[in-house]
Amino acid sequence: MKKPLQKEPYYITTPIYYVNAEPHIGHTYTTILADTLARFWRAFGKDTYFLTGTDEHGDKIMQAAKAEGVQTKEYVDRIAGMFRSTFEELGFTYNRFIRTTDPDHVKVVQDILQKVYDKGDIYFGEYGGYYCVGCERFYTEKEMVDGRCPDHQTPLEYRSEKNYFFKMSKYQNWLIKHIKENPSFIEPERHRNKVLSFLQDPLSDLCISRPKERLSWGIPLPFDANYVTYVWFDALINYLTAIGYPDGEDFKRYWPVSYHLIAKDILVPHAIYWPAMLKSMGAGPYKGLRVHGYWQVEAAKMSKSLGNVVRPLDMKRKYGFEAFRYFLLREMSFGLDSSFSEELLVERINSDLANDFGNLVSRVLGMTEKYQDGIVKKVEGYGGKLRDVAVDIAEELPQLMKGFRFRKGVLKIWELVTGSNGFVEESAPWVLDKEGKKDELAGVLYALLESLRLLSVFLAPFMPETCEKLRAKLGLDALHNTIHYKELVKWGQLPSGIKVQKGEALFPRVEYSAEECSAE
Ligand code: MSP
Repeated sequence: MKKPLQKEPYYITTPIYYVNAEPHIGHTYTTILADTLARFWRAFGKDTYFLTGTDEHGDKIMQAAKAEGVQTKEYVDRIAGMFRSTFEELGFTYNRFIRTTDPDHVKVVQDILQKVYDKGDIYFGEYGGYYCVGCERFYTEKEMVDGRCPDHQTPLEYRSEKNYFFKMSKYQNWLIKHIKENPSFIEPERHRNKVLSFLQDPLSDLCISRPKERLSWGIPLPFDANYVTYVWFDALINYLTAIGYPDGEDFKRYWPVSYHLIAKDILVPHAIYWPAMLKSMGAGPYKGLRVHGYWQVEAAKMSKSLGNVVRPLDMKRKYGFEAFRYFLLREMSFGLDSSFSEELLVERINSDLANDFGNLVSRVLGMTEKYQDGIVKKVEGYGGKLRDVAVDIAEELPQLMKGFRFRKGVLKIWELVTGSNGFVEESAPWVLDKEGKKDELAGVLYALLESLRLLSVFLAPFMPETCEKLRAKLGLDALHNTIHYKELVKWGQLPSGIKVQKGEALFPRVEYSAEECSAE
């Protein structure tokens, strides 16, 4: 018997989010990117594993629980549950939602610590340095700004303790060589350069423990019960736990094709600590780190005290989640910072979604109902320009997704939206109808309907629910992962005889008001 073809594997991860804050635009953005990639590569035929979850140990979390006056476990269960239910409500298609308090994770962390310890890469020593509780890490004098954390702008605490250290410095030269020899290890380039510049100075070793008497909320060190594991050493390992390190089949399958999506705030732990840890445990480096910029809200850093935290469920309630998702994907150039405001969101919804895309769908389906009782007639030979645009998108989109160029991807697909709107005007179906040119009218409508079908395939990873609604209007089945992208994107598949339905607008126009926003 012939062996079924093995699908090519693909592994995408988000950071695991600290449970000291509720889900906001930043967490949502990274998870949207991962979800878009996962959906795209699954449709493309890859065997895709998508991981997200929560980071639950450390000082910061214990202090947050204390501030609420509850037990730490009770507190982390509540916030992790909130992340999970939010992500479910937003329709993210992750394969696992991992928590660093999961028993399998605790075991993998302890096994790795023991392995690295046995290898002689962990030693006991004393260290004093400047610590930021917000970041849960020490800063070097070069990194700090006027004695403050460059990220949180809070004064750094000087701490000195006896602790265990990981010999990170031992791997510095190997790491520099690996980054230089593999330009796609860290992208975009600006972030790779930052890492290389950081590596110009000698690395210090990494303090990987905290004395239990000061911090009890962590994974106990397997070789010294008086200490717990430093939260970053624990958290990074989640990427291995989920795929069954060290012996699981999934680990062998997915690790060589692993991509970590992060924002620039956690570049150092991912680009320096993590590869050194992997090298020490003998797991082989991840395939790629992909680093995006920061969303600023109304041009300021988002914070509880400024009262400008953007919550995904508020956005969903006010504008619909897919409009928000579209905006984030369309607005930010990967690697650079961007600014979010509800005014900008409303502008985009009205111009791109209600006008360009929504109107196109309503017009084409409306004309098909008006002139052909909603019945598709397959007449070929019209709308060659649209076919060319579609062929071009089908070819370029996988490249753009490979390069994490989400904005470019959306703009590329939009060429078919714009092209179709132009074609409606040029071919003026209402004139063809008046002149009784039935075949030409059917041909023009066919090209437009086929473009809508293709948009429902191209846009599906970006706006999945909208695309299902569009497919239902077109009388088509929902997309599922067994049909290959390469088949779906061929021109001319919409069959004759099916009935389309205009129904309600996909995106009603919205108005901005500082308080509430309502559909017209
Ligand atoms: N727990 C660590 C990560 C451990 S990964 C092994 C952590 N958690 S976090 O909750 O602070 O999440 C940081 C991540 O959230 C960023 O890297 C980014 O993915 C996302 N964002 C949080 N705020 C953001 C913006 N304002 N803009 C864009 N993304 C940001 O760090």
